[in-house]
Amino acid sequence: MSKRIDVKDLNVYYGDFRAVEGVTMNIEPKSVTAFIGPSGCGKSTFLRTLNRMHEVIPGARVEGEVLLDGDDLYGPGVDPVAVRTHVGMVFQRPNPFPTMSIRDNVLAGVRLNGRKLSKADSDSLVEQSLQGANLWNEVKDRLGKPGSGLSGGQQQRLCIARAIAVKPDVILMDEPCSALDPISTLAIEDLIEELKENYTVVIVTHNMQQAARVSDKTAFFNIAGTGKPGKLIEYADTTTIFNNPGQKSTEDYVSGRFG
Ligand SMILES: Nc1ncnc2c1ncn2[C@@H]1O[C@H](COP(=O)(O)OP(=O)(O)OP(=O)(O)O)[C@@H](O)[C@H]1O
Ligand SMILES: [Mg+2]
Repeated sequence: MSKRIDVKDLNVYYGDFRAVEGVTMNIEPKSVTAFIGPSGCGKSTFLRTLNRMHEVIPGARVEGEVLLDGDDLYGPGVDPVAVRTHVGMVFQRPNPFPTMSIRDNVLAGVRLNGRKLSKADSDSLVEQSLQGANLWNEVKDRLGKPGSGLSGGQQQRLCIARAIAVKPDVILMDEPCSALDPISTLAIEDLIEELKENYTVVIVTHNMQQAARVSDKTAFFNIAGTGKPGKLIEYADTTTIFNNPGQKSTEDYVSGRFG
């Protein structure tokens, strides 16, 4: 079930270094939100705080609140592993388990959560997840073959199938198309469009056309200089960010005049 995310005054640190400063933002359910901004402005760092992946780095921590339908992900007693089942993540490089079969790759997250499924339930979950990732027709006759035997675009859709198999509320994607060719990129973009019917989707992208094509809202992050924290500069409807931004730096960035 798609859920809303409310971030309140979030600061994100690596040790003493504050990488992201004072982000407040509300992300609607059943929508696609794009994070854009120059390299190093903290997009990935901030994204990883939304499913408690940031803190796996030694010395990394956050201040502030991230609420998922009102529940603070950083509240006392909250299990980060449970958080990650509600908020799934897809990475820049497709990372299927290479020796595992396509079928087992889809089930990997579910098994990690300790869920035991009958053969029939596994079969239907595999089909449903691969259908949901628009990959079923391409792989249905070779589910027992290794995931590494797929093309890059297919591997990325396999990773999306793995993410949706655990039935999350939110799917985070960090530059999911940057390693893909234009055709596979369009396939993933179509898929993102479909995923928003059931999930809250957040995507980091350096591709302005992609942000304009797939997202409902866009958040522009920027950084004042090396060693300075990244900040959320402007967050609005994607059409506003691209056609009528409120800040000069947003306009410069989306029109390619940055730097
Ligand atoms: N593991 C880490 N330890 C220390 N500092 C880090 C770590 N990861 C990232 N940083 C720093 O945090 C800042 C933000 O990095 P981040 O990767 O979030 O930027 P980004 O906006 O995702 O950039 P890109 O567009 O290049 O992916 C940078 O200054 C980066 O050097
Ligand atoms: Mg990044």
